[in-house]
Amino acid sequence: MSTRVRISELPHHVGEVVQLLGWVRFRRSSGTKLHFLQLRDGSGFVQAVVKKGNVPEEVLDAAGKVPLESAVSITGTVREDARQVGGVEVTVDGVDVLAPCVDDFPIGKKEHGVGFLMDNRHLWLRSSRPWATLRIRAEIIRACREHLDEQGFVCVDAPIFNSAAAEGTATLFPVEYFGDTVYLSQTGQLHMEAAAQALGKVYCFGPTFRAEKSKTRRHLTEFWMLEPEMAFADLDDSMALMESMIAHVVARVLENRKSELELLERDVSKLEPATRLPYPRVSYDDAVKQLEGTEHAIEWGDDFGAPQEDAVSSGHDQPVLIHRFPMQIKAFYMQADPERPELALGCDLIAPEGYGEIIGGGERSPDLEYLIRKIEEEGLPQEAYEWYLDLRRYGACQSAGFGMGLERVVAWLSGIPHIREGAPFARTMARTAP
Ligand code: 4AD
Ligand code: MG
Repeated sequence: MSTRVRISELPHHVGEVVQLLGWVRFRRSSGTKLHFLQLRDGSGFVQAVVKKGNVPEEVLDAAGKVPLESAVSITGTVREDARQVGGVEVTVDGVDVLAPCVDDFPIGKKEHGVGFLMDNRHLWLRSSRPWATLRIRAEIIRACREHLDEQGFVCVDAPIFNSAAAEGTATLFPVEYFGDTVYLSQTGQLHMEAAAQALGKVYCFGPTFRAEKSKTRRHLTEFWMLEPEMAFADLDDSMALMESMIAHVVARVLENRKSELELLERDVSKLEPATRLPYPRVSYDDAVKQLEGTEHAIEWGDDFGAPQEDAVSSGHDQPVLIHRFPMQIKAFYMQADPERPELALGCDLIAPEGYGEIIGGGERSPDLEYLIRKIEEEGLPQEAYEWYLDLRRYGACQSAGFGMGLERVVAWLSGIPHIREGAPFARTMARTAP
């Protein structure tokens, strides 16, 4: 009798006869009498040894020519072997090819261009890099939720169909909606402000859409954003939560996803400083001064691009918090600094090593008249924001929070240069399939 187990559990079954269900990743033969199959089942990888004498002749032959990526069922005895990944291998006594591949698997050992790999993302996912990256992504999500849940935040999700813009009208995706036009969500923030007035500390985590025409390595048209929002909180509270959450996430990934980071050849010494608190804080004013006379100098009032973010963060091994931006480059809901009304009480968290902005957030204006004026100044239709303005009419409070772009965090922690590998199936200007 064999018990069905997953590869990751094999070290607990040494000496036992087990059944494994998975796919053949590699195959290597030593003559006709000995075949080594590397098997993967999603939980890990293991070597299965098929040897003449241990299996019937026809099974030996079949194992020697099973096409790569065929689905198989294997039975065998688990043996300790320190040289193998996971410290075990399986001595096979039965191989059942459940679904042989109809043709050579399109992704082989040779180098493929990224365009080809993205066209075949549905098959590329099986390779070790995407495998490791997606496991890191799942760990990041788990750690974020763990950090917020432990502090009494309530997960309240935001709608996707919306009748108004929250982050500028330039990046809206319109959708035909029963003869009307609505827009895919650019942020859950406005709804989280309503939820914070009901539940105090809340967050949403969901898909977010921006019609970004930029083809950079940091932009997707569909990405996942985690957005905590706190009632009776200010910019400092928001910055404190940004850094504590990121430090927790990095610590969890270092602790629980060691082998994945190793597989990706990630230099973890570059991640360790992010587990240290506090993170350096740099004001927009100081950042502009710091850039003066360099090739990335900007005028006061201009927004930062990737080169400016990288230049400001390059002197630090931890993430950097840049705060108090000019009002004119920030969204209508931002609270102005009472001491310098030309500044918005907002903050971006910039990841080290050139990964750029991974979080944006700050303090929201509680002032009804001010918001009505801003909505008018920006040419937005006030009627679409009446519900949001109600939050100021009925028990307005100082509210603060932020949005973390998941794929950018995945790219940073995994050490992958392009954000498209941080999503299971990336959506960009040029890609909506697979
Ligand atoms: O800085 P953003 O635009 O902030 C907001 O949307 C706020 N309403 C969030 C809040 O305060 N609740 O976006 C937040 C983060 C960015 O820092 C970035 O990580 C990510 O969302 N992001 C993108 N990620 C991938 N592709 C894009 N096109 C992105 N745009 C923003
Ligand atoms: Mg931003």
